Amino acid sequence: MRKLGLGKKGMEHQVAEEAQQLVEVFARSKGQPLDPSMHINNSVSNVICAVAFGHRFALEDERFQKLMEAMDFGLKFLCTFIHAVYEMLPWLMKHLPGPHKKALSCLEMLVSFAKEETEKHKENQSLHEPQDLIDYYLLQMEKDQSKNDPESTYDEENIAHCISDLFVAGSDTITCSLKWALLLLASYPDVQDKVHKEIEDALGSSHSICYQDKKELPYTNAVIHEIQRFRSIVLFGIPRQCTKDVKLCGFLIPKGTIIFPNLRSVLLDPTRWETPAEFNPNHFLDKDGQFVNRAEYLPFGAGSRACLGMQLAKTEIFIFLTSLLRAFSFQMPEGVKELNKEPIIGITTHPHPYKICAVPRCNT
Ligand code: HEM
Repeated sequence: MRKLGLGKKGMEHQVAEEAQQLVEVFARSKGQPLDPSMHINNSVSNVICAVAFGHRFALEDERFQKLMEAMDFGLKFLCTFIHAVYEMLPWLMKHLPGPHKKALSCLEMLVSFAKEETEKHKENQSLHEPQDLIDYYLLQMEKDQSKNDPESTYDEENIAHCISDLFVAGSDTITCSLKWALLLLASYPDVQDKVHKEIEDALGSSHSICYQDKKELPYTNAVIHEIQRFRSIVLFGIPRQCTKDVKLCGFLIPKGTIIFPNLRSVLLDPTRWETPAEFNPNHFLDKDGQFVNRAEYLPFGAGSRACLGMQLAKTEIFIFLTSLLRAFSFQMPEGVKELNKEPIIGITTHPHPYKICAVPRCNT
């Protein structure tokens, strides 16, 4: 992943291209109300396709559409009671009918999709320099095989599962974050106007946006951080297991204990944030309007097992959002006074479905 230069120029280019495609899709709505979910999800999933496979799919591609449907069903299933029962009693559930059977076949589909792409990469491997995750993985596999490394975990089954993990962890999270971003910016038009003005003043409307531009955009950067704090999209980090006895704040956490980090306890801590329950970009600004990072900003977890996709996620959210805000003013549809800001509790916490108008800015 590091060799792919996530967050560096290579990936940024792919993200910017997807952001531009999304701008074009939104432009087709001509300012009429639209539900942005599916369009955002297609674009961010295509970013993962670019990372893993080295190419994007046309939105009307049948294989891509099947992949999107499988992901959608699989992610919804993860939040159901039947999934919890399946996790506890897999040996029993295997013999019973139910939605878990379809969820398993969706996962199977995702894995075989990744295997097909790996096969194609093997055929063309020697034709070019490594460009994507599969290329680099196959190269590492060859190195390990030539050394007969018995410890190696690199094999074709594993790359397929790594790719399906990346799809699950890397598409719904960004979709969910961008949905919250548009909802909150439409709900706080003064904040949106300030962000738009800052982008226009610093970058104009022709310059293509890159992640480094965030240095010129302290207010925009603060707004993005505040969106992730105020409506963090995961309730808990991934469960981890304690490898040794640990004393923490006077409590003994014995070896073997399963720990669920409660991220919201930090992101909404009333002793650390001035107005924890309010959307307030000033949480990340100093008195001169400059961006300040906060130790309590932990939407990606912390430590050596913090989110592996953090840099890609930050790049995507920044480039997608600034590209959209430069092209459109996001407004609530006529007659709608307020959008529901309560989250739906699930594996990720999405907003309730909503429609929004992407009204083209006259100068773009
Ligand atoms: C706004 C977007 C995202 C948020 C808020 C987020 C949040 C998180 C959190 C809280 C964890 C658990 C960290 C811990 O246990 O301490 C995690 C793990 C992980 N994330 Fe993300 N994530 C995001 C986007 C992504 C993306 C884009 C990818 C991949 C391209 C990704 C891949 C992963 C993986 C593979 C893990 C497991 C890492 C491990 O077990 O070592 N995430 N993420």
